[in-house]
Amino acid sequence: MIQKPKGTYDITGDMGNKVRYVEHVFSALMDRYHYDYIATPLFENSSLFHRGVGDSTDIVRKETYDFTDRGGRAMTLRPEGTAGVVRSYIENKMYGDINLPKKLWYFGSMFRYERPQAGRFREFRQLGVEVFGSSDPMMDAEIISIPVNFLRLLGLKGVKVHINSLGDKESRDAYREALKAYFEPHLEELCSDCKERFHTNPLRILDCKVDHEKDIMKQAPKMEDYLNDVSKDHFNKVQEYLDALNIEYTVNPNLVRGLDYYTHTVFEVEASVEGFGSQNVLCGGGRYDRLVEMLDGPSTPAVGFAIGMERLITALEYENLSFGEEKQLDVYVIPVTSEDKEYAFGLGNALRLSGFTVEIDSLNRSMKSNFKQADRYHAHFVMIIGETERNDSILTLKNNHTKEEFKVTIDQLIDFLDEHLSSCDCDDCHE
Ligand code: HAM
Repeated sequence: MIQKPKGTYDITGDMGNKVRYVEHVFSALMDRYHYDYIATPLFENSSLFHRGVGDSTDIVRKETYDFTDRGGRAMTLRPEGTAGVVRSYIENKMYGDINLPKKLWYFGSMFRYERPQAGRFREFRQLGVEVFGSSDPMMDAEIISIPVNFLRLLGLKGVKVHINSLGDKESRDAYREALKAYFEPHLEELCSDCKERFHTNPLRILDCKVDHEKDIMKQAPKMEDYLNDVSKDHFNKVQEYLDALNIEYTVNPNLVRGLDYYTHTVFEVEASVEGFGSQNVLCGGGRYDRLVEMLDGPSTPAVGFAIGMERLITALEYENLSFGEEKQLDVYVIPVTSEDKEYAFGLGNALRLSGFTVEIDSLNRSMKSNFKQADRYHAHFVMIIGETERNDSILTLKNNHTKEEFKVTIDQLIDFLDEHLSSCDCDDCHE
């Protein structure tokens, strides 16, 4: 038997309802924030991620799914959504749009060759947002408010927001030099990854999972001491806007994020759900004012985030939160004999077009097993179609919850169902 690839999973059964629910709540929230939907290819030219995500990042060095297509082109399955959206922004000249800032959201699979464990997959899904054209710190706060409000709407409590500023290029360059000078005499004390980071991106040493408890890490220079006035002012204003929204946050000077493109604000949202484990960062993001230009577009400020859908669903499950209404079945249609099937099929189709949820028996079950099936589906009404019903155009409907039986003419059918389904006070409708 062929099995699924390591680190992937099938969305089946109840998981399907959960994914659709979470996406639906996010999409409705995005309408309220006035964002447009965007979808970009699952694979892109490899160079996009080398230049966009950064050659020095773990993602590009160790985790990408790279392949050569049949035309000999170097391709990569997207490890994250930002680089593709930036490519699309530039290629489609969205910077010329009169409706700026350009506010976009997406949902889809990302691929990283990581060591699979709880909350870490090789194919996972992100709900993400990218905004182009605004350097206003209010936009940084809007971006942080989206996952906070989203998690609130889903009912998740105990959410923690961590923020930091990496400053503009001048501040970041000054800090980089200070870190290099500081770590150089201690290189031998660092893990092998950090020794490499020292040369490629010394900021990443600060979020090393191996070395973080060491004293040399705790005493390392702090970014805040290297922020120039423009960067300090930006970060202060972001905090004032977050305060205006009553969003609680912690300034975490060691938060540098694993991607190279960030400037100014970076943030992560963590679920402090009991028993949830180490993969508790649900969401990460920040400002990336130089990336559009680095990918050959016009200089454009930008900010965004992405939420990991699997981690989010696990957090909601741990808290026993609901995933919306149970699926309802309005009418279960039973043709009595094979001669009744076409008529039953046509009537079921008409009801679906009128907005009802309908199932029609397609396994030619006996009447008894059809009623059992209707119970298993928690169908509101069972509609039996036999010769009499066809000839007289009078239909027999049974309320499967109260067991009441009704005779309804075909002309009255839709009004009858509308009225009875909206006023139904059975247990299933009021759970
Ligand atoms: P990221 O921090 O790499 O950021 O990923 C965002 C979220 O995706 C993480 O917080 C986590 O919930 C989820 N995630 C990441 N890797 C995995 C995995 N292997 N398995 C399951 N979930 C995972 C980005 O991807 C940036 N593009 C975010 C961004 C958008 N920054 C600006 N705009």
